[in-house]
Amino acid sequence: MSPSAPLAVHITGARPNFPKAAPVLEAVARLGDGALRQRLVHTGQHYDERMSEVFFRQLGLPEPDVNLGVGSGTHATQTAAVMTGLEDLFLTERPDVVVVYGDVNSTVAAALVAAKLQIPLAHVEAGLRSFDPLMPEEVNRLVTDRLSDLLFATSADAVAHLGNEGVAPERIHLVGNPMIDTLLAHLDAFDADAARAHHRLEGRYAVATLHRPANVDAGPDAEALVKALHAAADQVQIIVPLHPRGRATLEAAGLLAHPAIRLTEPLGYVEFLGLVRGSDVVVTDSGGVQEETTVLGVPCLTLRPNTERPVTISHGTNRLVTREGLALEVERALAVDRSTHRVPPLWDGHAGPRIAEVLLEAYA
Ligand code: UD1
Ligand code: UDP
Repeated sequence: MSPSAPLAVHITGARPNFPKAAPVLEAVARLGDGALRQRLVHTGQHYDERMSEVFFRQLGLPEPDVNLGVGSGTHATQTAAVMTGLEDLFLTERPDVVVVYGDVNSTVAAALVAAKLQIPLAHVEAGLRSFDPLMPEEVNRLVTDRLSDLLFATSADAVAHLGNEGVAPERIHLVGNPMIDTLLAHLDAFDADAARAHHRLEGRYAVATLHRPANVDAGPDAEALVKALHAAADQVQIIVPLHPRGRATLEAAGLLAHPAIRLTEPLGYVEFLGLVRGSDVVVTDSGGVQEETTVLGVPCLTLRPNTERPVTISHGTNRLVTREGLALEVERALAVDRSTHRVPPLWDGHAGPRIAEVLLEAYA
């Protein structure tokens, strides 16, 4: 590889970043010899083995070239720590393009630093909008897209939002969904029988994964969520791989008091999707899980008033539900014909190579 080839620096930091970045890194590595050099940064926003390292191992991601080790904190503390670390790094490395993923604090922090240093910025998963200003991710999406030079969209609605916001069409690329590239590449490893045996599950079961601040941070919200999960557990056993954010509040609200609810640590990617694949219904507020259930054809009930991923409703298996309505929706989902979903256009396993080609054309 030529030492003078343009340098792409990928920024990751939180759990959902890893399955989005993996296919892009792989596709860039496969480009013609010397076309683009690349470096992988882990900001350290997520740091538990089960929130981070397990993804590197299972997805074949290279060891990060740099880990900033920023850890947890308030929004300002965490964002500032990522910015300070990246400013030093970018001044030394002088990337030709910075590639950011999704909508987490590490994403917007990298976008701000790249923009101020006048380094071109590419955003993977651009244009998603919940139109909910109370979501920190919505702020991150708006700022990141506003600063991006290349905007990679997963769906036509995202392209339309960017157009409405005045982004020039030639900067927007509808490439499909790299998170689904990763899903399809590992499909054979998602072993529903092994998951069932490992968790000693018999009969029908639901998987619940929840971590949005609006659901788990405040005591009253956590209590309302637990009440809803208990009502749902009257109908079907529920296994809950619990994100660390809500662990204390949900346990304090009595999550484990129902005999049909089982708690686990956050699961590795392969183990989690094996469990999801074999489940009868998923209850979530995760962005990525709405997309993955759409492709796997598993009914998904999203405990949120909105979604930035409407294609998972129009094409997929997703439905927005309230806490009060959850038990009834679980009952309905258990009766649903799982063959009726469609996979959204371009969610075909080739988003990574499409992104790599655009980067090559733009920067090599
Ligand atoms: C972040 C993202 C969110 C994304 C989620 C994916 C932001 C603003 N939010 O939320 O969009 O959906 O990641 O999982 O960037 N913690 C641990 N171990 C870890 C990481 C976190 O115990 O490895 C705990 C800490 O108590 C921490 C809390 O989880 O304070 C929240 O972590 P943080 O990264 O701030 O936000 P998430 O809720 O994970
Ligand atoms: N995931 C996982 N183990 C779990 C829960 C989720 O591997 O216990 C995966 C999930 O399959 C998806 C990603 O983590 O690939 C989504 O991350 P998360 O829900 O934390 O973030 P969001 O998508 O909501 O931003």
